[in-house]
Order: sequence, then C-alpha cells, then structure tokens
Amino acid sequence: MFLNLVCPMSTQDTSTPDWVDYDKNHVWHPYTSLLNPDPAYPVIAAKGVTLTLADGRKLIDGMSSWWAAIHGYNHPALNLAIEEQLKKMAHVMFGGLTHEPAVTLAQQLVDITCEPLQYVFFADSGSVGVEVAIKMALQYWGAQGRPQKHKLLTVARGYHGDTFGAMAVCDPVTGMHGLFNHTLARHYFAEAPQCHYKGEQLHTNIDSFQQLIHQHHLSLAAVILEPIVQGAGGMRFYCPEYLRQVSDLCEQYDVLLILDEIATGFGRTGTLFAYEQAQIEPDILVLGKALTGGYLSLAAVLTQEKVTNGIAADNKGVLMHGPTFMANPLACHVASASIRLLLMSPWKRQIKNIEIQLVKELYKCKALSSVAAVRVLGAIGVVELKKPVDMPVIQAHFVQQGVWVRPFGKLVYLMPPYIISTEELTQLTQAVYHVLSTMDHHENNNG
Ligand SMILES: Cc1ncc(COP(=O)(O)O)c(C=O)c1O
Repeated sequence: MFLNLVCPMSTQDTSTPDWVDYDKNHVWHPYTSLLNPDPAYPVIAAKGVTLTLADGRKLIDGMSSWWAAIHGYNHPALNLAIEEQLKKMAHVMFGGLTHEPAVTLAQQLVDITCEPLQYVFFADSGSVGVEVAIKMALQYWGAQGRPQKHKLLTVARGYHGDTFGAMAVCDPVTGMHGLFNHTLARHYFAEAPQCHYKGEQLHTNIDSFQQLIHQHHLSLAAVILEPIVQGAGGMRFYCPEYLRQVSDLCEQYDVLLILDEIATGFGRTGTLFAYEQAQIEPDILVLGKALTGGYLSLAAVLTQEKVTNGIAADNKGVLMHGPTFMANPLACHVASASIRLLLMSPWKRQIKNIEIQLVKELYKCKALSSVAAVRVLGAIGVVELKKPVDMPVIQAHFVQQGVWVRPFGKLVYLMPPYIISTEELTQLTQAVYHVLSTMDHHENNNG
C-alpha cells in the first residue's frame, strides 16, 4: 500500500550517533532481520509523553512502549522508587530468601484483584508468566490424578507471547505456528469472538467454543483468553457476555480459566482489570506490562486457593518454576509505586476522557478509502486498514509528523500514556488522519 510513497526523511543524518551503525549491523530488534533491518530511530531520552531522538526531534508517544508506560516516562515517583530500592539492594535470589518489595507488591495485587485470587507467583516477563500459568494448570490436573487433562482451549486471533508454550496458544494463522509447527504443542482453537463490545447485537458466537469444550473437556486442562480486548492478534474488542459464557462453560465442564491481562490490566479498558466487566473470577490471572509502569520487566501470576492447593496435592506438591531474577526487588518496588500512583490518580476519568476524545477525533478516519474500520475502547483507539502497511515508510511519516505511532499489519493504533493532555492526544489523532489521508491521496492518484 505504501510502496509508491517516498520515505520522507532518512533516519541517518549528521547528528546520528556512531552507535547506530553498530546497532544496525549487530543488534536484533523485535521481529527484524539483521540482513535487511528496518530503520530503528535512536532515542536518547523520554519524559512525560515525549521521546527525544538523537537529532533533537521530539515525538509524542502514542504507544506507551507497547502498553506499559501508563504514567509516561521518567516519572519522579517511579524514579524515586528505583533510587530508594537501589540503595538497599538491586537483586537477591528468591530461593530461600524473601524481601519486603515482593511481599508488599503481592499484598497490593491480592487487594486489587477479585477476592478469590490470593496467591502470587512473580515471573520475569509476560510470556514467562503465561508459561507459568500453563504449567500451573497442567500440574494441577496431574496432582488430581488426571494427567490426561493437558490440552488448552483458546480462541483464534489471540496473542499470549513468543515463548513456546505461549506461541502454541497464539492465533494459528497470524501467529508463528507456521514456523514452529513441528515443535509446538497442539491445542484447540474456537472461532474468534464476534460479538461487538458496544454493538447493537448482543448475540455472541459462543457455539464454536461450546462445541469444542463439550467435545474435549476430558483432555482440557484450561481455557486461556485475553479478556475483552484481543491485542497483538488483531486489536479486536469483544463483549463481556462472551466472557461470562466462557466462564460458565469452564465451570460446567471442570476446566480451569486462565485470563491473560498482560495487555489489558491496570485500567487500559476503563476498568482496573478487563474481567471486571464480565463480573467473572478467573482461576489464574496473568499480569505484566503496565505492572511496573513500564520501568522493568515483571509479570505476576495470581491463583485461587483451589489451584494452589490442587498443585500441592500430589506427593511433591511444588510448583516447578523458579527463574533467577524472580521477584527482582527493583521491579517489585517500582511496581508497588506504580500501582499506588495509579490508584491515587483520577485514572478512570483520564481513561474516559481519552476514550471520548479518541471517538471524536479518530472516527473521521472512517471516511478514508483505505480504512476498513475504526474502534475505540478505553484508552485504545484502532484504525483498521484494508491492506497491510509498509512499516518503515509509514513509520517515517509518523516521525515526520512528530509522533511515535508503530502500526502492525493492517492496524494503526493509539494507546497513549494515561497522563496525555488533550492537546497532545489531538496531535496524535491528527497525525494518524494526516498520514492516512496522504496515503489515500497517493493511492488514488497512482491507482
Ligand atoms: C496479551 C499478551 N500476553 C502476553 C504477552 C507477552 O508479554 P511479554 O512481551 O512481556 O513477554 C503480550 C505482549 O504483547 C500480550 O499482549
């Protein structure tokens, strides 16, 4: 779609630091080739909602660094938390030792999630958190003397991470199944939820899910889903009713329910956790990303007593996971500060305001001929195009507009830090409209 557009500005200019060349030749970036790398923009500072490039250009951030930096960058309270903890200890092993940052954070997480979630496992990243959740479900059934319950049921268009257990429950078409088919565990995929969160139609397409759970429940350990918003698998929203029915079916067929709130947790959809919108309680909940306000990599897996006690029920009774950097004190302490900051802030109002503004300003993209759909939920605005973007080209156009927006596939989306001002958000939405309408114009003129 963008092939005919000329890249408006090269990333290389006289102010490009020396290390950028080394980066280009030696350092892998997410989903890139080192033989033919897409440009990576050298960033030297970040504060509030602004990224500063090495050449001095300032970009308004529409990505929150992949949904994580909810309070913006370089926040004094979060900086202070890191500094305080650094003076005491950066890290100690969690095997045989414990520390206040981990315990305080565990207490906060237990307090802010639904009542039955009482136990916390700290993992290093979202993907590893998903691995741990899957392991918990398998160990649970093994300990119940039912090791044949070792399969998972999920829905198409999901994304749960890049490690092997997580990849096996990502969308089999848009995920990486093709590349790793020979080694990935085989699980069951129902149709992607079709109901619209705010649609007129309250009908859900639960039938395909219902059929699979009915057919395979004897071999199913757990269902795993992203509640309400399917993120990296397509930025799709679905209604709480679908989730409610999934929860009922899990109960009916004796299958554990794992909710992956790595992307949706901590307010992004308008409630602190997306599962609240369906008034359900997962057996296992995975959190990550915004957990530390985007400062450090950390995930938390919370479980109900049934799961925790269930795992302990066999002879050995231990959960077989224990990473080197488990419950890193710096990450735990900054996560505690981030949660405190969030709860003290008017986050609900901020997200509502972002939602209202995104609706008002992004919906006009619907009129563009390249646009298939526009949708908004909480602090998430999505413009779905008819064809995939040419990433380096569209990226350069956004940078030229003074914003950091990183589309993928057919999706141009905004997920700004909650502290973004009305004016800054307008800059983002105007940039999206401008870049897409320029693209339309080109397409129309060049056929
Ligand atoms: C819903 C969901 N689960 C899991 C992950 C993986 O998390 P991480 O990238 O921290 O491994 C992501 C990351 O985008 C995600 O959106």
